[in-house]
Amino acid sequence: MKTDKSDILALLRNSEDYVSGQQLCDKFDVTRTAVWKVINQLKEEGYLIESVPRKGYRLVESPTDILSESEIASRLTTKWAGRKVYYYDVTGSTNNDAKRLAEEGDPHGTVVVADIQNAGKGRRGRQWQTLPGTALSFTLLLRPEFAADKASMITLVMALSVAEAVEEAADIAATIKWPNDIVVNKKKICGMLTEMTMTPEMDEIQYIVVGAGINVNNGSSDEFQEEIRRTATSLKIETGRHFSRAKLLERVLVRFEANYAVFLETLDLSRLRDAYQRHLQGVGAEVRVLDPAGEYTGVSQGIDDRGELIVIKDNGEKVQVYAGEVSVRGLYGYV
Ligand code: BTN
Repeated sequence: MKTDKSDILALLRNSEDYVSGQQLCDKFDVTRTAVWKVINQLKEEGYLIESVPRKGYRLVESPTDILSESEIASRLTTKWAGRKVYYYDVTGSTNNDAKRLAEEGDPHGTVVVADIQNAGKGRRGRQWQTLPGTALSFTLLLRPEFAADKASMITLVMALSVAEAVEEAADIAATIKWPNDIVVNKKKICGMLTEMTMTPEMDEIQYIVVGAGINVNNGSSDEFQEEIRRTATSLKIETGRHFSRAKLLERVLVRFEANYAVFLETLDLSRLRDAYQRHLQGVGAEVRVLDPAGEYTGVSQGIDDRGELIVIKDNGEKVQVYAGEVSVRGLYGYV
């Protein structure tokens, strides 16, 4: 029944004219009553559907930003990413959900989306806040066949995909603060957390989960926690417009599928480097590298084929900064 709902919704959305009840019954091999039930459920969820005797149904308007399994599934145009979707109104962390689902055998490409996370996880053990009706918080499950030393590049592939999707959806410039924060007008709009689990023999990747939290419809910076208020922003704050999170997710997954395919050709970022670099913040600028082994400053040269940041230290030494525990700042503020 669930699939029929998103399929019916997709058909209504993509038809300019009325779709008759009979057409829906024939196409999805369901009864009239089943169609009627789905239409009523959709109306209850806020879709404005016109029903005209002898003509059928027409989707007049969708709620501006509804996030549900059928809304997401009905928009997907991808081959494998998001073909299985779990949506939760409230959860702890979508990364944890995706890991549990991976253990239970869910396939490559499964996506977990939540409106609210009450135990959202940030990088380096930090918390990640997700308020109701505002963010697009999702995690993609991957079951790759490549070696574990390639895994760190997946976050950069996702960063590029989110930057491209944000630009397409909102028509604004999105940059990447290495390795994977997405920045709009010098403020952070999205963070990512990738986690990898090895097989018990520790010789192969069992699965990877890539989670991203995009601030979409937060109306003002006051909504953010005190610590990030000066450095965080949302698509709505920057454009004054409200966005459909389901539509944005669809864009991200389309871009990820395409970029991941390019990555798999070489198992490095050589063919994505130019695109990533075009979005990369601060190439040629001075940066401070917050390495737990000792901070230093230098000039960023952009990334190499493995996604490491090349920095020429003040003493002329060239270093490859590996993302791991290191964080990079501009000399004057967050970016
Ligand atoms: C960061 O910048 O510190 C990373 C934030 C990552 C947040 C996302 S939201 C979806 C997914 N689930 C989590 O618990 N974390 C990631």
